[in-house]
Amino acid sequence: MKGHTMKIVVIGGSGLIGSKLVANLDERGHEAVPAGPDTGVNTLTGEGLAEVLGGADVVVDVSNSPSFADEDVMEFFTTSTGNLLAAEKDAGVGHHVAVSIVGADRLPESGYLRAKVAQEQLIEKGPISYTIVRSTQFFEFVGRIADEATDGDEVRLSTGLMQPIAADDLAALVADVAVDEPVNGVVEVAGPERVAMDELIRRGLRARDDEREVIADPDARYFGTKLENDELTPVGDARIGETRFEDWLAAHAPAGH
Ligand SMILES: NC(=O)c1ccc[n+]([C@@H]2O[C@H](COP(=O)([O-])OP(=O)(O)OC[C@H]3O[C@@H](n4cnc5c(N)ncnc54)[C@H](OP(=O)(O)O)[C@@H]3O)[C@@H](O)[C@H]2O)c1
Repeated sequence: MKGHTMKIVVIGGSGLIGSKLVANLDERGHEAVPAGPDTGVNTLTGEGLAEVLGGADVVVDVSNSPSFADEDVMEFFTTSTGNLLAAEKDAGVGHHVAVSIVGADRLPESGYLRAKVAQEQLIEKGPISYTIVRSTQFFEFVGRIADEATDGDEVRLSTGLMQPIAADDLAALVADVAVDEPVNGVVEVAGPERVAMDELIRRGLRARDDEREVIADPDARYFGTKLENDELTPVGDARIGETRFEDWLAAHAPAGH
C-alpha cells in the first residue's frame, strides 16, 4: 500500500490525537479527512457516514465519549463502533484502525476500560481487516488524572507504574500503522520512561506551579480501578515514542517560565 496517496478518514479528527494525526498524514501526502459532529458525521446516529466513507482506503477511529460515566462510555464505544464497521463494509474500506489503551483487558474494574475492551472485541470479530493500537496515557492527560483524584488541596494517587507518551508521538505512530497493512491484531505503543503515577503527576503539577499536594496511596483508585503494579504498561514489545516527559514539560510550560 505504501507509495500511493490514500484516502484516510479520521473519526474524531478534531480531537487531541485526531487533529495531530490529520496533520501528520497530510504532511506525508495522503488525503486525510477529519470526520466528527462538526463536519456532519455522527457515529452514534450514523449520520454522514456513508458520504464520508465513499472511496476511503482506511478509517482511523480516535473518537472519544463526551461522558466518562460507565454506561455512557459503554454505549458510546459499542454503538459507534458497530455503526462504523457496518458503514465501512458497505463502502469497501480495507483497514480499520482504532486507538485503545494498554492494559485495558487487565483492569476490568474500570468502566471506561471495560468499554474499550468491548470496542476491541467488536473490531476483532467484525468484518473489516484491522489494527488496534493500544497506547499508554498521553502526557496531555496528566491534568485530568490530577483533577479526577483531587479532594480540596490534596491529590491522592496510586503508586502503580505508568509509561506515558506525548500525543505528537502517538499520532506519528498511529499514522505509521494507518498507511501500513492491517495486522489483524494489537500493536502496543508507549513512552520512553516508566514512572509511578504519583511521581508523574507530582512532576507535572510542580512544573506548572500547581500547589496541590500529591499523596502516594497504593489503594487509591485510577478511574475506578486499583492498580497492583504495572498493569498500565506494555508487557511485550512496544513501539516507543521518544519524547521525555521533562522535555515535553519544558516545551509546554506556561508563559513566564
Ligand atoms: N487519554 C489517554 O491518555 C488515552 C490513552 C490511550 C488511548 N486513549 C484513546 O484515544 C482516543 C482519542 O482520545 P482523545 O483524547 O484524542 O479524544 P478527544 O480529544 O476527546 O476527541 C474526541 C473526538 O471524538 C469526536 N466525537 C465525539 N462524539 C462523536 C460522535 N458521536 N461521532 C463522531 N465523532 C465524535 C469529538 O468531536 P467533537 O469535539 O466535535 O465532539 C472529537 O473529535 C480515545 O479513543 C481514547 O480512549 C486515550
